[in-house]
Amino acid sequence: MTSVTDLIPEPRAIEGPMRCGVLLDEGTTLWAGPGTGTTERWLRSTLGPALGLPLRPGPQDARDSVRLCVDDSLEPEAYKLSVIADWGVEIRGGDAAGVFWGAQTLRQLLGPEAFRKAPVRPDIKRGIPHQIIEDGPRFRWRGLMLDVARHFMPKDGVLRYLDLMAAHKLNVFHFHLTDDQGWRIEIERYPRLTEVGSWRARTKFGHRASPLWEEKPHGGYYTQDDIREIVAYAAERHITVVPEIDVPGHSQAAIAAYPELGNTDTSLSVWDTWGISPNVLAPTDNTLRFYEGVFEELLELFPSEFIHVGGDECLKDQWRASPTAQARIKELGVGDEDGLQSWFIGHFDKWLSAHGRRLIGWDEILEGGLARGAAVSSWRGYEGGITAARAGHDVVMCPEQQVYLDHRQHEGADEPVPIGYVRTLEDVYRFEPVPPELTSTEAAHVLGTQANLWTEVMEDQARVDYQAFPRLSAFAEVAWSDLPAPAERDFDGFERRMVRHYERLDALGVSYRPPAGPLPWQRRPGVLGRPIEGPPPNR
Ligand code: ACM
Repeated sequence: MTSVTDLIPEPRAIEGPMRCGVLLDEGTTLWAGPGTGTTERWLRSTLGPALGLPLRPGPQDARDSVRLCVDDSLEPEAYKLSVIADWGVEIRGGDAAGVFWGAQTLRQLLGPEAFRKAPVRPDIKRGIPHQIIEDGPRFRWRGLMLDVARHFMPKDGVLRYLDLMAAHKLNVFHFHLTDDQGWRIEIERYPRLTEVGSWRARTKFGHRASPLWEEKPHGGYYTQDDIREIVAYAAERHITVVPEIDVPGHSQAAIAAYPELGNTDTSLSVWDTWGISPNVLAPTDNTLRFYEGVFEELLELFPSEFIHVGGDECLKDQWRASPTAQARIKELGVGDEDGLQSWFIGHFDKWLSAHGRRLIGWDEILEGGLARGAAVSSWRGYEGGITAARAGHDVVMCPEQQVYLDHRQHEGADEPVPIGYVRTLEDVYRFEPVPPELTSTEAAHVLGTQANLWTEVMEDQARVDYQAFPRLSAFAEVAWSDLPAPAERDFDGFERRMVRHYERLDALGVSYRPPAGPLPWQRRPGVLGRPIEGPPPNR
């Protein structure tokens, strides 16, 4: 039996656990009240194969059964999980999502075997101690960003990450679909975006200062059917998918496919190295109409309130050199290239509002002013988020210094991805999304927080797992639980709970970074394994 103290993220309050408990077995029935269908389906499809618990439908008053119901006296996403003698397991949720998060806790209470795909023994029985858990999230935006542009992750890998998010009660999947190095979503009216833009001829191996290339094509994209499947799979898990189309910078793959989107006559290929490409979108009406077409198809596929337009790291050299861009600056009266960027983002802000959605972008979109409804992903530290919240904009806090999980986890010479600052498990556990400078009114604009996985040096799923875990487990607790101030957080206690959580991650097949450092097969020979001297190259 799992002790409640092993739960991750840690719940708000627990009464118990008692010594005796409820036993679930092949005959245990499930009653699912109105509005709890997602959890009913998820429990059967998960606990059935893992534990041999088919959870057949049964009456509400069956002894020692499992019951699910929505109870709107609880807050949204909150739940109360009761394990009571002669009654069984009851999960009441403030809404359908609350019931689902309660079911995630139930799975943890059932032990690491509940995380397997097939039972270890067919006749397995599962006991849960009598207890009552009351729980709910601190933030409504508990996000993970995955960059599938730098390295493509096939659809099944994405579905697996949605499952890993659900297991950690994370609920926003920020899908970084386009960048200089690849365009990953089918847009029917512009087939070259994927025919040309989704493949590059070779790939820089390691960080951008590395002298090595992997001399083989890399690519892939999601068809619109794939995207529909991903969005539906996420919705079944109460996860919202927020797509990102990065404009006007980070657009070399699109320009390689449609050269008229660029500022020069030079023919481009999809970029094969890392950093920030100087090739950015031309600020023309043609570009605006083109991307309105892209966003029209996007809105058909993604029902999310927010649509991410990137807006980060748009180098302005080409605009400075381009007579067309300079004429545009004069015609619009926007003063300079920064004004032009602000005009560009402002156009899509208005366009998205007119289509009933809200724009979100990286904190550079603040430069030059931002429309009222737009929100900001604060990545260059807290400053962008503080400025945005003070100006009344909603904010997602994801400062690079704390929650960029591509950054190395240890100084050690055998760390396989030696880029960025060292950000340990403890650093992430002590990350505080709401800076003390904000008043409570301003802090109410912090929708939540998000960990970001940029994949320049993560060429496959095992490498993504290694960078994400166990830090994403610590991050999930930051996003969900009511933790005290960073210095007062019980990191030792968290590490003790992680012992059991590593068993769950093992059962899920996650190749996390072991606490003692990389396993032999996780290490890397050559340039990637060398310690970095001097300031760390940042991608
Ligand atoms: C970013 O890391 N360029 C948002």
